[in-house]
Amino acid sequence: MKMLVVYDSFFGNTATIAKLIAESMGTADEVKAVRVVDLRPEHLDNLELLVVGSPTRSWRPSASVMIFVQDLKRSQLEKLYVTTFDTRIDLNTIKSKFTRSLIGRGGYAAKKILKKMVKKGGKPIVEPMGFLVDGTEGPLHEGEKNHAMNWGKKIREAYDTKP
Ligand SMILES: Cc1cc2nc3c(=O)[nH]c(=O)nc-3n(C[C@H](O)[C@H](O)[C@H](O)COP(=O)(O)O)c2cc1C
Repeated sequence: MKMLVVYDSFFGNTATIAKLIAESMGTADEVKAVRVVDLRPEHLDNLELLVVGSPTRSWRPSASVMIFVQDLKRSQLEKLYVTTFDTRIDLNTIKSKFTRSLIGRGGYAAKKILKKMVKKGGKPIVEPMGFLVDGTEGPLHEGEKNHAMNWGKKIREAYDTKP
């Protein structure tokens, strides 16, 4: 079995979440967390499950994640179970009502990434997930590390019990 968590991160919060998810999904031999800029073609060889995570930036995934997903071929995705996550600002940490409503209205990265992957044949294994950061640079909102570990376990359970 080979699983991969591909992520991008500017301030380190998405990296922390990605690593916790990978650790909760299985052993280091089974699951790796790799930053999207460090990804090599062999990481995708014989892959069975792919998790993609991105910070939400202007309602979307980061440019590097977008390019990675756009470059994935249908022939690769058709063989893969997939899910996605993002990090996003905790709206309660934004003082301006206007900015809060602007950010809250445009959606988040995870669903948008998953939609693209499923469109090209990826088989969704669990619903996409969002993790909160306090302010733009973090730290992660209280409880989000546990949330990440629980979500990683959930992915693994879904994989082990799939029909
Ligand atoms: C330029 C910029 C745009 C952002 N846009 C959004 C957004 O649309 N929605 C949101 O919830 N958070 C937004 N954020 C907050 C990021 O989601 C937050 O910085 C990120 O989750 C931190 O993850 P990282 O430490 O892995 O970079 C934005 C941050 C920056 C710097």
